[in-house]
Amino acid sequence: MVKTIEWVNGKVRMIDQSRLPREVKYIDCTDYEMVAEGIKKLWIRGAPAIGIAAAMGIALGAQEIKANNFNDLMKGLNHVFQTLLLTRPTAVNIQWAVERIKLFLTERKDQTVDKLKALLIEESLKILQEDIEINKAIGRWGAQFIKDGDTVITHCNAGSLATGGYGTATAPIRVAVEQGKKIQVIADETRPVLQGCRLTAWELMEDNIPVTLITDNTAGALLRKGEINLAIVGTDRTVANGDVANKIGTYSLAVLCKENGVPFYVAAPLSSIDFSIPNGELIPIEERGSEEVTHIFECHIAPEGVKVRNLAFDVTPAKYITGIITEKGVFRPEDLHKLNEKDVDLSAFMLKAT
Ligand code: MRU
Repeated sequence: MVKTIEWVNGKVRMIDQSRLPREVKYIDCTDYEMVAEGIKKLWIRGAPAIGIAAAMGIALGAQEIKANNFNDLMKGLNHVFQTLLLTRPTAVNIQWAVERIKLFLTERKDQTVDKLKALLIEESLKILQEDIEINKAIGRWGAQFIKDGDTVITHCNAGSLATGGYGTATAPIRVAVEQGKKIQVIADETRPVLQGCRLTAWELMEDNIPVTLITDNTAGALLRKGEINLAIVGTDRTVANGDVANKIGTYSLAVLCKENGVPFYVAAPLSSIDFSIPNGELIPIEERGSEEVTHIFECHIAPEGVKVRNLAFDVTPAKYITGIITEKGVFRPEDLHKLNEKDVDLSAFMLKAT
């Protein structure tokens, strides 16, 4: 399985996803500004992966700060936090990583600055390892909904490349394959950046998982023909009422699934769930440059000067979602908030395959 991000000899190494699969190239980020640039330019993308990159970027940024005490270190880090937080607004994982690191440091404020700098590297590696384990748990919970012979549709890339490894939406697929189920995956190409075409199809083929690539607007026709049994997608931010922000086009796919009686699941690690936001209307949606729409790679395909809207994400209302697959179990969107409550017997709210 391809490695998305690593810490190598004091640098953050990421596979350049903007070039895949035409070119397999790794970039070594030498400072936190370069990590932030990589997140903005989509060298690394996918909510959990950019959360991990942020944690590693903070560790990298800390090494350069000249401070004699905890307070000065935190002052220096403040700029690093802000730079990373401003890269991409929709995925909550960068915020999640910044909050986790702030708490981590505050709980260790009596340690020396040198010790804290070393601990930050360890903590970012821990976040990476934990992410892979979380994805495997998502896979175990989610695989129960995939039957032998099923065809599963996914949108964008919520696979290994979007995470520390194993993927979120691809995790139940991987576990189902490991269980010996014969399944097929349909990958939406995912205009305009083509994550489904360039990344999902590529990584599944690398791992010998049968995948068929379609244009986004083919999904409805195949759903209507009964050729698709279920959908599993990832999320950039899922909020308290179970509304889900994910790659643009997810909403359309969810509506089409509902219309055709096909279950629609969202794979959501807790790091992508934002209980502080009550509903999807309040999720900040990133709008990206027009050239992603007017060009395919270097080739200009649109009329010169045409007006463009390029929303990178949309919000799927909870009513279209069958279940949210987390590392703690699978829940109906309306029960998701139970995960944020104390002393709740979660097993009483878990969705089980029938
Ligand atoms: O713009 P991207 O490529 O970062 O968008 C990625 C997605 O929308 C993914 O589905 C989401 O981040 C979940 S990744 C496990």
